[in-house]
Amino acid sequence: MSSRHFLTLLDLTPDELNRLVLRAIELKALNRAGDLYEPFKHRVLAMVFEKSSTRTRMSFEVGMAQLGGHAIFLSPRDTQLGRGEPIEDSARVLSRMSDIIMIRTFEHEKIERFAEYSSVPVINALTDLYHPCQLLADMQTYFEHRGDIRGRTVAWIGDGNNMCHSYINAARQFGFTLNIACPDGYLPDADILAAAGEQAVMLDSAQAAARGADLVVTDVWASMGQEEEQERRVRAFADYQVDSQVMQAAAVDALFMHCLPAHRDEEVSADVIDGAQSVVWDEAENRLHAQKALLELLLS
Ligand code: CP
Ligand code: NVA
Repeated sequence: MSSRHFLTLLDLTPDELNRLVLRAIELKALNRAGDLYEPFKHRVLAMVFEKSSTRTRMSFEVGMAQLGGHAIFLSPRDTQLGRGEPIEDSARVLSRMSDIIMIRTFEHEKIERFAEYSSVPVINALTDLYHPCQLLADMQTYFEHRGDIRGRTVAWIGDGNNMCHSYINAARQFGFTLNIACPDGYLPDADILAAAGEQAVMLDSAQAAARGADLVVTDVWASMGQEEEQERRVRAFADYQVDSQVMQAAAVDALFMHCLPAHRDEEVSADVIDGAQSVVWDEAENRLHAQKALLELLLS
């Protein structure tokens, strides 16, 4: 079926992504001014959550309400999805009743299969492999604080996880260099990394990755679905905390980001996440504005 989906950052062109960030900034200003902008009256977003969420659920539901439409929350606990109805059947049914669908799930392959059978656009609201919506907000946040990220250096420190993979794709699409530092055994996917060529570079310590960086980013050490690995991961990641020493290695005006939820004094020290270089609250708020711009792009 021919709908336009957003499963990874590579589904939009660099030009579309840059315009989306600028549009998100415009929508934020409209919202702050109290101007109503309701182009999606009677349009419905179906939101399928197979994992927990605070920001993603709020930002999509509020965003759709502000755009004049409606959002419906669906969880496997109380839908037939949780009782084994095939993904292909769920996709065909949900897409006949809604205008756009958002999914947060485990295997990335599942959302690809869902999109294949959906007659309306499908948005990836996080899989085990990628979290592209978060990157839209992160890029908007960087732009608001420091201008264009093209040619800059970003440090990814911690787990080579879904967020790391989306940062690798962002380096390709937005034109920055990504320095990555992860402990052995927790490296990003080799194919995703290789596809970025020289734009994503592996370094052997948090300090080395942060050196001269304009933006330092981390994420939890154990993602959703890895809870039972928590203790082992805390030991493996001990040298990968973003603390004030790591931030000192970065550029003097470097920013700190984290998609949240965060564990203070695990992946980031409390003084960094609560300090002057941290822009995590703007980053969280921008989920709303960036996703409104995404809904507009996919629904228009
Ligand atoms: N950053 C993020 O996606 O947060 P939630 O898990 O709360 O949605
Ligand atoms: N890597 C984290 C991101 C949460 C928004 C996870 O997948 O749990």
